[in-house]
This record gives sequence, structure tokens and C-alpha cells, in this order.
Amino acid sequence: MAFPGRQAVVGRRGHVRACESPALPGRHCGAAGQERPKADQKGRTMAPHGVTITWGRTACKHPVCGEMSHRDCCGDRALAPPLGPPQYRRAVRLTVSVPIASDALGVGLRPSHYRCIDADAPPIDYFEIITDNFIGAAKVQAARLARVRERYPVVLHGVGLNLLGHTPLDEAYLDAVARLADAVEAPFFTDHLCWTAAQGMHHHDLLPVPYVEDLVDFAASRAYHVQRRIGRPFGLENLSTYVEDHRSTMPEHVFYTRVVQEAGCYFMFDINNVYVSSENHGFDPLPYLEAIDYSRVLQVHLAGHTRLPGGTIVDTHDQAVCDEVWDLYACAWQRFGPFPTLLEWDDHIPPMAELQAELARARAVRKTGAARAPDGSSVGKPGAGTSTS
Ligand SMILES: [Fe+2]
Repeated sequence: MAFPGRQAVVGRRGHVRACESPALPGRHCGAAGQERPKADQKGRTMAPHGVTITWGRTACKHPVCGEMSHRDCCGDRALAPPLGPPQYRRAVRLTVSVPIASDALGVGLRPSHYRCIDADAPPIDYFEIITDNFIGAAKVQAARLARVRERYPVVLHGVGLNLLGHTPLDEAYLDAVARLADAVEAPFFTDHLCWTAAQGMHHHDLLPVPYVEDLVDFAASRAYHVQRRIGRPFGLENLSTYVEDHRSTMPEHVFYTRVVQEAGCYFMFDINNVYVSSENHGFDPLPYLEAIDYSRVLQVHLAGHTRLPGGTIVDTHDQAVCDEVWDLYACAWQRFGPFPTLLEWDDHIPPMAELQAELARARAVRKTGAARAPDGSSVGKPGAGTSTS
């Protein structure tokens, strides 16, 4: 069955941060989406509804900023909503072609794959590239990507969006992503529900936020803007996490789902990440799997991880997918599939033949609905003596 050949992406305009004006608690002041009125000599502005608000003087409510003022930490535009107020909401329709099948099996493209792709063109349904590695790429790198694209569909997966950061979205970065997406005719692009930069510093980690009401609107308005700016379906990926924030007021899957719904964007659902977080924080991963709207899943990620001596699991992408994650995948596939699935490796990357064998295992566990047969043998596991067809 083909993944919808032409798909309408409907988003909504709006999702603004609640106004902090004491005169209109919880309602927006109406200045969003317009040129911000000029401040008077005391730094105050007059919003359209006649309430005086003071930009840059209120305590920043973004959890990353802490107690500093907007002007100190974010610049005075940082938390100004990027989109119009609710009364100006209207549908936005984007039409894109999606050339990968709903049951497609892909691999994250890494430099060690180029030689094999050039020589053998292995039967992989599609590749995913790390967007940031190809923005402004040198000619050699761009030429390699062009050769891959001649043979395979390519989707984009970014790590530099900083969706939940407290500074304004980097419009030049978004435009660069859009140009790359156009160049490879990417059916969709994805990034993470996280923040990666603050105070002018870029962290090379995907950092979580507390799951709170204020950040639902904040994340959704920015995700909506990103999807609209790039003009392709935008998938948000759930993180693997190692700490929990005591300020959270809702479970991660509720926060994740609400952001996707409010933004009119999509899920980039990483089942290994759910497993890693469930082990690290001691929750049952099944309700998380069941909460996802699979009609809005652009792609599922699978990967391996490393369990440290103390029991913490680190999402290292340097090992084969474990049986427990295959079990979750099989469960999701049998109940909610099909969905395109991508295998991620970032270290100790095996030869392409081993990756193909791991993809064959995906096909096998899809059929059986479990990673282990009743006799305890591993379904479809390379070298385990069971069928991988
Ligand atoms: Fe992932």
C-alpha cells in the first residue's frame, strides 16, 4: 500500500503565548503577528486593546531562561509570538508528493555507505540524511548526495532547529533546510522536540524541557511556523531522556501529542527512545505507544543503545536493535501499522549487508508480532537460524 501519494497538510495559524498583561490574564494582547508598537520613553507600548504592556521587563517564563528578563536573556523579540493571534487563524494547505511506501524500510545515510551504494546499489527503500551535515556542504559531499538521490528517495533529519530554545527561530537556517529539501525532493523533514542552544552557546546534545502547559503553545506555534516556512510535512521526534523535570505537569506522550495536534505537524516517532526513557524513568512504554496517532506518523526510528553498569541506558546508536525494542515495534506495527521505518546507526556502523539483515528482521517481526518465538528463539535475528523473509 502506498504512503499517500499526494497529501494535504493542513496547519492552523495562531497558537500564541498567553498574554502576560495583568489586565488580560491568559488572553493575548493582540500585538502578535504585527509590527510591535514603538515603545514610549519608559519602554512601554500600547497594545491594540488599549492595555499598556512593558516589553523586556517581565520575568521570562521560559524554563531555560530562569528568572532573567527577556532583554537580558532572550533579546526583546524572543518570546514575541511568531504568528498571529487566534482571531486571525486560517487554514494553510500545502501539497507535496511522497514517494516512499508506507511499509518502506530505510537506513540513516553515513559516509561509510557511499562506496557500497556506488558499487552495488543495495536494495534499501530510502535513506535519511542528517540535514545539518549537508547545509553548505562542500562540492564533494554534495556530489555524493546527488548520486545517492539518483537511486533512492532521501528524507531529512535535523538536529539544529532548537525548536524549544528561547531565542527566535533562525530563519536563515530554515531557508537552508528548505533549499536542501527542494534539492533532494524530500517528501518530509524532521527534527526534535528539544532545545539545543541558549545564551549564545550551542550544545551538542538534544535537551529536554519540562512538559508544561505554557510550552505546548510555544512549541506548537514554532513547529507550525517551521512547517509553513519549509513547505513540507514536518515530523517532531521524541527524545530519549535521562532526567525528569519536577516542573512537568503532564506525561511526555501527552505533551508530545498536544504539540503535534496544535501545530498541525506530524510525529517522527522513535520507539527505541520510548524504551530508553521508560527504562531510565521506570514507566510502562505501552501506553506511550498506544497514545500516538499513527495516521500522523511520518516515520518510525529504530536503533540500538548501551546499558551502563548502573542500569541507565544511553541512546548510543552503536548496537543492533534489542529484542525488547523489536517487541514494541512488532506490537505497534500489528496494531497500528503500516508506517515507514528507519534504522539509525551512528557509531560502530556495520557493513551494509548487516544493515540489510537487520531490516530483514524488521520484516520478520512485523509478521510474527514479536521478537521471540514461543520456543524462545529470536525471530529473524541474523545467525539465529530463523527465517528473515
Ligand atoms: Fe531517532
